[in-house]
Amino acid sequence: MAEFAEFGAREFDGWSDGGIVDAYVRHFVPITDLAAGKLISGRVSAGDTVLDLCCGQGSLTQMLAERGAAATGLDFSPEMLAKARQAAPGATIVEGDAAAMPFADGQFDTVLCNFGMMHIADQPRALGEIRRVLRPGGTFAMATWNSPAASPAFAAIFGALKAHADVSAAPAQPDLFAFADPGQARALLAAAQLEMAEHATFDAAWRLDRPEELFEIFLTATVGAGMLIRSQSAGTVEKIAAAIARRVSEMHAAGTGYEVPVSIALISATAR
Ligand SMILES: C[S@@+](CC[C@H](N)C(=O)[O-])C[C@H]1O[C@@H](n2cnc3c(N)ncnc32)[C@H](O)[C@@H]1O
Repeated sequence: MAEFAEFGAREFDGWSDGGIVDAYVRHFVPITDLAAGKLISGRVSAGDTVLDLCCGQGSLTQMLAERGAAATGLDFSPEMLAKARQAAPGATIVEGDAAAMPFADGQFDTVLCNFGMMHIADQPRALGEIRRVLRPGGTFAMATWNSPAASPAFAAIFGALKAHADVSAAPAQPDLFAFADPGQARALLAAAQLEMAEHATFDAAWRLDRPEELFEIFLTATVGAGMLIRSQSAGTVEKIAAAIARRVSEMHAAGTGYEVPVSIALISATAR
């Protein structure tokens, strides 16, 4: 969608940055892999043709290959794709845009998208492409973050950004939490002839040694939040970091460290 073109370009630049990609793999993938396992469970059998859309580092793609599926991973970041080729040597790894996929109509039994949808600039077009490359009756399943109201980690980050950051320079973007809402998810999917079948949630957590770590993770390992924080003055960055650390320290102490829960939505749909 042209209105989110600047957001799309920023996403491409961010996911092409080796430092962000390495930090993402270190800090987020232990959590996103939990969702990957749940997306596969009960949905993929040996011999199925399965697309891992926005495959990133390729850990879900490799899980699919281990299940005996004919696995394909697609992503637009060469930096991520280099990691995916290493992680999933038995899969087909393709460079491309989720909104214009280089695949035939009805090519896949299943399309999975693990924490990719919210990074896609033109989501209606990508959903249309998902429907096009699925066979009729095929399955689409995705994982996404739940909103801050349900998710203490995101409440800490977004609360501090809302209180202190100047967001005027951030590009307009699709609603990060649209698919976390069952009603919105159903409508967005239905517009692409995908009938929502399930909308479930589960909790994971970041286990930290220091309360400052949550800020450091979002600064170094995310595209949107990281770039927004880096665009602030030094004084503002200090306020954001302190607010997040204070909240982690006050609300999430666990044993000798800290445990900050994060809530994840799993959504599945059937191609009409
Ligand atoms: C948060 S990462 C998710 C990586 C991985 N799926 C996981 O489970 O951790 C988002 C991925 O979406 C990719 N991406 C974002 N927009 C895309 C688009 N329009 N087309 C293809 N890939 C895209 C990025 O390059 C990045 O690898």
